Amino acid sequence: MKFVRFIMKNAALASVPKHIEHFSKFSPSPLSMKQFLDFGSINACEKTSFVFLRQELPVRLSNIMKEINLLPDRLLTTPSVQMVQSWYIQSLMEILDFLDKNPDDYKVLGEFVDALVTIRNRHNDVVPTMAQGIIEYKEAFAQDLVTNQNIQYFLDRFYLSRISIRMLINQHTLIFDGSANPVHPNTIGSIDPHCQVGDVVQDAFHSAKMLCDQYYLRSPDLILQEMSNKKKNLPVSMVYVPSHLYHMLFELFKNAMRATIETHENSNNLPPIQVMVSLGGEDMSIKVSDKGGGVPFRRIENLFSYMYSTAPAPQIGEYTRPPLAGFGYGLPISRLYAKYFQGDLQLYSMEGHGTDAVIYLKALSTDSIERLPVYNTTALKNYKVSQEADDWCIPSKEPLDLRNYKVAK
Ligand SMILES: Nc1ncnc2c1ncn2[C@@H]1O[C@H](COP(=O)(O)OP(=O)(O)OP(=O)(O)O)[C@@H](O)[C@H]1O
Ligand SMILES: [Mg+2]
Repeated sequence: MKFVRFIMKNAALASVPKHIEHFSKFSPSPLSMKQFLDFGSINACEKTSFVFLRQELPVRLSNIMKEINLLPDRLLTTPSVQMVQSWYIQSLMEILDFLDKNPDDYKVLGEFVDALVTIRNRHNDVVPTMAQGIIEYKEAFAQDLVTNQNIQYFLDRFYLSRISIRMLINQHTLIFDGSANPVHPNTIGSIDPHCQVGDVVQDAFHSAKMLCDQYYLRSPDLILQEMSNKKKNLPVSMVYVPSHLYHMLFELFKNAMRATIETHENSNNLPPIQVMVSLGGEDMSIKVSDKGGGVPFRRIENLFSYMYSTAPAPQIGEYTRPPLAGFGYGLPISRLYAKYFQGDLQLYSMEGHGTDAVIYLKALSTDSIERLPVYNTTALKNYKVSQEADDWCIPSKEPLDLRNYKVAK
């Protein structure tokens, strides 16, 4: 019996590349905030959602699995990346099991919810495991610019795809697990149609403040201002996923607090962190300003790099990193959350003074549409960029000795 199961499992495994090939030919279907809300409205139909997901999840998984295969061999073969890849294969197989099941059978629908929960849990540690793979790769091999660019390009797409897959899974499991959300009765899955942005700012600030107090025994204050369609002090509300907004703000506050405290070490007063929330016709923007000394302009792009910021995990007993700074993934992942619904996150810094971090989101739910990577020839081309000579001169380190160019009198 065990042997038969082993044979069957191997046969299923052998067919995985064929399935990936098939499903990666489809483009993922980006959903709008409105479509997400419709799936969760009164006439929400679990059957429709099931039929959609058993096709869409394999499409999204297969599209990104094709790209995993394009990673440099030396990274692809690290134990960590192999592990992540095996999770993706396992999850794909588990969803494919539902392709020939009857959507009218309520037992099948129940099993599907359970399968999604299992898959979500399996993928909980994808980000630190992938980061570990990068560390292993960096320790073993010299890096070159092209590989670094490829890895950055891949990880942005891979993590964005992961955010989107988790969003789909969360919506289905939260809406159809049969119980109302007792904490937030008005949310639709993880979406709050009346998300009070100011409240999320306060929540995220207080969590960061608690961490900061624990580690540094002090923390800066918050000054929060809100503008709604040019009217001052009107609370801003929008359709959004509060947990995504919280994630971005929490990361920005941790960074702003650490910078503020470290640059004002010898002062009794800490300058407050100022937050401006502004709702316009097109954008809902949040600016987090600190007076934490800023970052040189040249370094700004590096702060969003996975290769640059991944520091080896501290060994036990060795120097421990402060809790307000970890893997160095705070900014790049936060920017992906902003980009997921067509927004962005940018840093404007003045070295010597401080930093403004701005989150841009779409004010209208009709503009909030998933931004998803698709595997196609353009993506393929992006992995094949060769290292060509720069079309800008490289400034020489030594100042040119102009005396050699003196015109003879
Ligand atoms: N407001 C800021 N002022 C000054 N430096 C900043 C600020 N925000 C970010 N930085 C710099 O950017 C780096 C990267 O930030 P990021 O949040 O991505 O990673 P991290 O804070 O090092 O670790 P974690 O993963 O815990 O967030 C920080 O280590 C810090 O040097
Ligand atoms: Mg950080």
